[in-house]
Amino acid sequence: MWVLGIESSCDETAVALYNASYTPNFYEKIARQYATHAPFGGVVPELASRCHLESVSLLVQDVCKEAGIEIAKIGLIAATAGPGLSGALIVGLSYAKALAVSLDIPFVAVNHIEAHMYAACAEHKVDYPFISLVVSGGHTILSDISSPTKYKVIGRTLDDAAGEAFDKGAKILGLGFPGGIALQNTAHGGNKKAFHFPRAMMMADNFNFSFSGLKTSLLYFHKDHPDANLNDVTASYQEAIIDALVRKTINLSVKLDRKIIVVGGGVIANQPLRKRMIKIAECKGIRVILPSYELCTDNARMIAYRGDCIYKLNGPSSLRADIFTSFKPQNSL
Ligand code: KG4
Ligand code: ZN
Repeated sequence: MWVLGIESSCDETAVALYNASYTPNFYEKIARQYATHAPFGGVVPELASRCHLESVSLLVQDVCKEAGIEIAKIGLIAATAGPGLSGALIVGLSYAKALAVSLDIPFVAVNHIEAHMYAACAEHKVDYPFISLVVSGGHTILSDISSPTKYKVIGRTLDDAAGEAFDKGAKILGLGFPGGIALQNTAHGGNKKAFHFPRAMMMADNFNFSFSGLKTSLLYFHKDHPDANLNDVTASYQEAIIDALVRKTINLSVKLDRKIIVVGGGVIANQPLRKRMIKIAECKGIRVILPSYELCTDNARMIAYRGDCIYKLNGPSSLRADIFTSFKPQNSL
């Protein structure tokens, strides 16, 4: 069955066709909005909604054309219901429901964070249980996952997400938007031990995160040392984020005796983070499953994949399904 996935939670309009028993098993089209938001130094919600409105129908036509699949051959429509920007979510979810009604096919509302949690399973065969780390622009979530629908959130950020720490750090240093990749590029070749930035709540049994103190310390550091070498500053700042993410994830895996870690979310596109997670996990006999870059950052393939799973296990969602703006674990243990 071909599943159409639609993602519109923030500043990417993405649509994908996914079919578990077909090779290749997906086709995807993404319209990114960087140029629209860059002059404002961050995502402007109303502009994001308008861009989704402009792009979504055309992307669906394009992806069907590329796949050589008539729209009438689609068997299920999955769309992100949240968390995300309300106006942006309403565009994608309304479009998905309307198309499902007009084609007389089922519709599934997908939780964007759960889609990141399980995204790697679209590419790899993953055995349960595993520890999941999702690190995106608005969320940092550490969970113990026991099945395709059962998971327990053990730790999350108490203030800024790791992605925000990258984005706000890049803004403080004037590196441009989007900040994560700009900061990674500036840090490349820098000395990560040049400066010390704080890591919060690093006790072995504390699995929550906090990144707002780190951001504030960068702000003051930059005021006090405006001429410090930017490569070294960004490398040291990035190191503080990576250190917290990796140590807490490994500590939890060891504590619960889990042998597999699955990561997801835009920040997992960060190259030094990927390398560090693998290196430290290997020393503990733990396997790390990393999704490809395209499956880390926001995409519709993970929405279609997750929608397919939920539909097979739980059936369709109600056409009354509403959007939601913050993450509430829905299928928790
Ligand atoms: O999952 P995602 O694409 O969107 C949300 O659901 O939020 O994550 C976006 C976040 C942004 O904060 C962005 O700066 C960050 O992922 N990001 C990165 C990199 N690529 C994207 N952070 C660090 N290094 C990267 N290479
Ligand atoms: Zn995301």
